[in-house]
Amino acid sequence: DQTAAKLLRGATVNFTDNPRLKGDDNSVQYETKGVIVISEGGRILWQGAFAQLPDGFKGLPCDDYDDKIIMAGFIDPHIHFPQYRILAAPGKDLLDWLNRFTFPEESRYSSEEYAAKAAEIFLDRLFANGTTSALAFCSVHKTCADTLFAAAEKRGMSMITGKTMMDRLAPDAVLDTPETAARDSQDLINKWDNKGRLKYAITPRFAVTSTDAQLQVTGDLYKDNPDCLMQTHLSESPGEIATVQKQFPWSEDYTDVYDHFNLLGENSFFAHGIHLSERECQRLAESGSTVVHCPTSNNFLGSGLFDIDHLSKPERPVGVGVATDVGGGTSYSMLQTLGEAYKVAMLKGRKITAHDAFYLATLGNAKQLKQDKDIGNLETGKYADIVVLDPKATPVLESRQEVSENLEDVLFSLMVLGDDRAITATYVAGEKVYQG
Ligand code: GUN
Ligand code: ZN
Repeated sequence: DQTAAKLLRGATVNFTDNPRLKGDDNSVQYETKGVIVISEGGRILWQGAFAQLPDGFKGLPCDDYDDKIIMAGFIDPHIHFPQYRILAAPGKDLLDWLNRFTFPEESRYSSEEYAAKAAEIFLDRLFANGTTSALAFCSVHKTCADTLFAAAEKRGMSMITGKTMMDRLAPDAVLDTPETAARDSQDLINKWDNKGRLKYAITPRFAVTSTDAQLQVTGDLYKDNPDCLMQTHLSESPGEIATVQKQFPWSEDYTDVYDHFNLLGENSFFAHGIHLSERECQRLAESGSTVVHCPTSNNFLGSGLFDIDHLSKPERPVGVGVATDVGGGTSYSMLQTLGEAYKVAMLKGRKITAHDAFYLATLGNAKQLKQDKDIGNLETGKYADIVVLDPKATPVLESRQEVSENLEDVLFSLMVLGDDRAITATYVAGEKVYQG
């Protein structure tokens, strides 16, 4: 329904392109007294300066956020639903953390009742952090993915998820087989893929926990369902990489394992990608694959420092997203995640501006997910998935704004000092789903 329904007033920030490539002037629109017009159907009809609001939109019901920032909701392209309780579990490294904390917790998700309760908490938490869309892992259990899809559908939100596939090196309670993985995944695709705002992601956990037979089945599923996404983990920790080398002695490197089973491509998402060689980056780039940077997780698990400039080399740029990786990640907040990405870049001698960072968390992630027709910024026709940010949410932020001189300063302080306290409100398809 294209009828105008309501207005949101505030300081609107709209990323139209990548500031790293196009420069700030060509990629960031900022109206200190801005307004968004939202349709009955939850789409954006108009956005710009309030002074220029067309007459036909005047007098509509209005949520007035004064000088708070209104922008596109955050997109989290790598997060684990069944890990919502296990943030801050101190493992020795990735593999130890998986064995001691993660697999036992994920085994609980065979229970539909448990998963259903968890899904509501998980989605509430995303909204409380201004995250309106996610590419999420579920547990190995079909019922877990089924439950998360149903909960997301009820909320009218954009959600991409899938049943995790894993058939070795974990407790029986979290293992499937190549056959059940293929059957359960295809059932879930048939039931949920492209239903409303939902999409299916074929989800082999990582090469360590999938046999050759299962990776073969994964490649077949991807070929049969080319419209689905594929998500997994790649080159996160030294122990993991050594294990993969032993398991697949014929492979040139870790990326080559996934390549061999035809899992690279435009719809493929590889979390972490910290220790990638030049050859691996070339293959990832030419296949159109995306590597998802998860800085709070990498620091917490001691996995290593992601190198944004190595991945983004102009002659073979690998597509990059940025995500929380809860529960290896230590925060649901994309603000904290961007702040951590800044620090990781600093430790690598690299630079990320606040404009770069907020672009990545919104339109950048949307483009990688091929969802930018519907989400990622405030363009007319997109869903009104919106976050309202309070740059003065805490005493520390309030003081900081006294010396902020421009939008870059304000956004930078929000990503370094902000968290869920800076989320004033969250909207999904034009409906307010969270009020801080
Ligand atoms: N690699 C395989 N599984 C996982 C997981 O659950 N979290 C992280 N961070 N890495 C993984
Ligand atoms: Zn992960």
